[in-house]
Amino acid sequence: MKFPTSHRLLITVTALLLSVFSSLAMAQTPAGEGMGGGMAAGGEAGMGAGGQTQNPADQALKYRQALFTLIAGNFGTIGNMLQGRAEFNGATALKNAERTAQLAAMVGDAFPDFSKTATGSKSSAEIWDNRAEFDKLTKDFADHSAALVAALKKDSKTASTEFKTAATAVAGDCKACHDKFRTK
Ligand code: HEC
Repeated sequence: MKFPTSHRLLITVTALLLSVFSSLAMAQTPAGEGMGGGMAAGGEAGMGAGGQTQNPADQALKYRQALFTLIAGNFGTIGNMLQGRAEFNGATALKNAERTAQLAAMVGDAFPDFSKTATGSKSSAEIWDNRAEFDKLTKDFADHSAALVAALKKDSKTASTEFKTAATAVAGDCKACHDKFRTK
């Protein structure tokens, strides 16, 4: 049986409306509410910056890269002071150490199991196969960052030995974890 022309038009319009509504629903899906919320629980496909849909693993990788970019940006300033590439400034060091400590506390959540399959990740599969050791390095990083904050709160007038020791420990945590769990 053949549909009359008007009927066929109705079907086409309905299909069009359905596709518009479903893309609207997608656009309203939060793109990154943080790993502590929906994404850690399994996540939903959201929209990437370019408008294309992203699977939860790739979305989690973006979040993780953003986190490490912020960590490197904030700790980098301290590293420059430590290595004499920038003059020591106690107030800036303390501010950036506090930020690093906050960000360090977020690292563990940035590696949910479902993110193991993300495209373009430099994370070694060992992270998920050897989680206890990874968690230990994550904790060291958080503890040493907090110790750096404490050292600067005690004395931020000069680049004290305590500051240097604490900052060196944090820099060592970056390296230890990258050597073990980041692929080149
Ligand atoms: C407990 C492990 C761990 C610690 C500690 C750690 N990192 Fe990383 N970092 C990683 C892993 C794993 C990746 C790769 C992430 C991926 O591509 O999935 C990474 C990636 C990065 C990246 C690249 C981000 C991108 O956009 O691709 C930078 C920059 C970085 N880390 C800087 C640092 C700095 C600076 C520190 C210390 C202040 C640090 N990391 C501490 C594990 C760690």
